[in-house]
Amino acid sequence: MAGVKTIGILTSGGDCAGLNAVLRAVAYRAIEGYGWRLIGIHDGTMGLMRRPIDVEEITLAKVTPAMMRQGGTILGTTNKGDPFAFPMPDGRKIDRSAEVAQGYHLLGLDALIGIGGDGSFAILRRLAQQGGMNLVGIPKTIDNDVGATENAVGYNTAVAVATEALDRLQPTAASHDRVMVLEVMGRDAGHIALAAGIAGGADVILIPEIPYRIDRVAAHINKIRAEGRNFALVVVAEAVRDPSGEVVRQSHEGGGATYGGIGHAIAQEIAKATGAETRVTVLGHVQRGGQPTSFDRVLASAFGVHAVDLVAQGKFDRMVAWQNRRVVDVPLADAIAESQQVDLDGALVRTARGLDICLGDA
Ligand code: F6P
Repeated sequence: MAGVKTIGILTSGGDCAGLNAVLRAVAYRAIEGYGWRLIGIHDGTMGLMRRPIDVEEITLAKVTPAMMRQGGTILGTTNKGDPFAFPMPDGRKIDRSAEVAQGYHLLGLDALIGIGGDGSFAILRRLAQQGGMNLVGIPKTIDNDVGATENAVGYNTAVAVATEALDRLQPTAASHDRVMVLEVMGRDAGHIALAAGIAGGADVILIPEIPYRIDRVAAHINKIRAEGRNFALVVVAEAVRDPSGEVVRQSHEGGGATYGGIGHAIAQEIAKATGAETRVTVLGHVQRGGQPTSFDRVLASAFGVHAVDLVAQGKFDRMVAWQNRRVVDVPLADAIAESQQVDLDGALVRTARGLDICLGDA
């Protein structure tokens, strides 16, 4: 597209491994490939809202190969600053969306690349439509629940971390004849739990998509014991409901509330029903940090290059996606229309059942 010279990039929502690899790919394609300027916006849309606008020019000198290995995001991010309902210090929530669009235009941006999950995309898309911003999205989230793409950046790394946790829990479970419960993240979707559970040899995997019955879980653990094995590995996704049907939440010192704690409720139920000694590990944010896996680095790089090519073609309001081993692009509206939950007829559920892993329902 003639005239595109300066593009902005921001990371939005919860961080994950691979974000810096995306930034590096975007920088190479935009600066080296097209001769454009790239402006890195700090702390998601907050950087565009602040005055002076909080940005930095991204140069090739800044995007070293070290970024392929670096967790987090050097741009900073937030999952609290919805510009349409921005939390003020006095507790009010006000609409500051016009300031974000103004920031974009003050910078003279020709396009904005937003790296986010479905929640961020819904906000960014509304901002773009309202404020005349040319938006391209790149999906990232450890939860892997963005629609229209098989993979989002960060998911593969989170699965690797959760699998490693099971690798470490299994020998200690075996040594002490214990049932180890591992609680993993994945707000409202069980992708991490299911994939890591299969990879880590779990006996039970509980995900929010499949309601569990504790008697089924207990029967499976008792069966394993009757077969002569005195330990078991149980993976629970954080969004699984407790026996009363409620999602378990935790409020945090200094503000914020997230899912978390269901692992303890499940462990208690298992101990009650089987008499087994249990221990609980809540994996938490270690799933988001650290070095990205090689798959996430490749995905991040492919997405970054494709996103810049979309800008070059003047194709906006689209998201890059991974489908059938190819990088494609889809309407952003498709990506946010429906959150992608575990397919109950899909390969991983069938695999788990084929391995005699208890999913809580049978
Ligand atoms: O959406 C990513 C995610 O890591 C979820 O899996 C988790 O529930 C949530 O973010 C945690 O959010 P926070 O960073 O605010 O603790």
